[in-house]
Amino acid sequence: MDFSTKAFDSTKAGQAGLANAKTECLVVGVFEQQPLAGLAKALDAASKGLLARMVKRGELDGKLGSTLMLHEVAGWSPARVLFVGLGREDKLSQKAFNEATRAAARAVLASRAVDALWTLPQATVTAQNAAWAVRASVIALRDATYRFTQMKSKAEPSNTVLRKVVFAVAPDELKAARVAARHGEAIANGMALTKDLGNLPGNVCTPTYLADTARKLAREFKLKAEILGPKQIEALKMGSFLSVARGSVQPPQFIVLKYEGGPARQAPIVLVGKGVTFDTGGISLKPGEAMDEMKYDMCGAGSVLGTIRAVAEMGLKLNVIAVVPATENMPGGKATKPGDVVTSMSGQTIEVLNTDAEGRLILCDALTYAERFKPAAVIDVATLTGACIIALGHVNSGLFSKSDALADELLAAGRATGDTAWRLPVEEEYQEQLKSNFADVANIGGRPAGSVTAACFLARFTEKYEWAHLDIAGTAWKSGAAKGATGRPVPLLTQFLIDREAR
Ligand code: BES
Ligand code: MN
Ligand code: ZN
Repeated sequence: MDFSTKAFDSTKAGQAGLANAKTECLVVGVFEQQPLAGLAKALDAASKGLLARMVKRGELDGKLGSTLMLHEVAGWSPARVLFVGLGREDKLSQKAFNEATRAAARAVLASRAVDALWTLPQATVTAQNAAWAVRASVIALRDATYRFTQMKSKAEPSNTVLRKVVFAVAPDELKAARVAARHGEAIANGMALTKDLGNLPGNVCTPTYLADTARKLAREFKLKAEILGPKQIEALKMGSFLSVARGSVQPPQFIVLKYEGGPARQAPIVLVGKGVTFDTGGISLKPGEAMDEMKYDMCGAGSVLGTIRAVAEMGLKLNVIAVVPATENMPGGKATKPGDVVTSMSGQTIEVLNTDAEGRLILCDALTYAERFKPAAVIDVATLTGACIIALGHVNSGLFSKSDALADELLAAGRATGDTAWRLPVEEEYQEQLKSNFADVANIGGRPAGSVTAACFLARFTEKYEWAHLDIAGTAWKSGAAKGATGRPVPLLTQFLIDREAR
């Protein structure tokens, strides 16, 4: 889909220009209180009061998310005009805007329009500008058209014919809107990569496949890829990471991907992603129900690769490093057993009381490895605990950090993109639950506050830098009929990096 921007002012002449524009589908926002204002008013006049009559009959009421498509109306040049309810003007929040945009996208895609002139970004969203609206619209449109068909034997005909979307913005916002459209596409491309990697089955998306994906990104975007195999991982003494990989015949891969967009001496932001390409639980085997969804246990890795792709395409003036420990978690003759004690790269010994708490075992060595970059901040992203779904459901990712400043930056980035997170504690008091009789630390802390004790385990390996942890167990994919990866938290992470570039 091709996105562009065009200037139309809100004067009468500008609105008349819009009403007469050459497009297969004109998309028009209407508010609940006053459906016939601005562009809708101009269209009403051109149609000799058709819209006023429809408002009177209650067919056009501006209720949030409602849509009404009119075809070939005498007096209008576009073949179709789609009216989209924006709700109450004084309540047009980011959420409301996104809801209306999704509804509009569904209606336009269901029509056979090949191009559309999108005027919704002209509506003022509380505390945001047109550039924000354009970017959010690009992301929503791309999200609505995403399909995963790689594994079907026959090419499925694409169900979308929409090829071109032009955003109408005020002349003084044109420049910012252009950049926003470009950023929106970069973020959507990053999200699509994240979704593809998540949706691929475990027999295709192996640790080696993730490594190959990183190599490909390096070639395409001039990044530096460094990929370590089992021998090199052993040489680094990553005993905890290797204890998870031991049960699998797939060789583990330790992936480092560097984007150098900032000055050489600028400290990088390091993104660490959990890359368990399939989590059976290991010897602490999971029950069978919905186990297929554990192919999504590499969504942390997928999202850091998607984010670095977006950052590279946007060309942010910033140094970003993605670090991905990738492995399967399988039962096997050589697999780690409950009660085994392993030595992490940091030197801390770990009693593996449950082999299904494997995410923290691979992340802790990656977090120790990250020290060598002298990072400005390290953020790890992981489908870490089922307990996080119990705590926050599928709405918010769990955010953990000892740094209020870093946590606030990430929370704000989540709010700005609608890819929200909710902060949970990482306090010393919970470390009590991780005590082991036989090693420095146990890898599980019992049922109470399961996500918090997982974060507290990671915290032991992050003393040397500013750190935050995102638990995306509830937000990385959807189950049921709409089963599929969401591309979260790529919007949150990229917004955080955009804000870091600007600060
Ligand atoms: N990958 C899972 C967490 C998970 C489970 C994410 C279900 C999304 C849906 C993780 O490796 C895991 O198995 N965690 C255990 C930890 C427990 C053994 C302390 C869990 O959450 O049950
Ligand atoms: Mn597990
Ligand atoms: Zn897991």
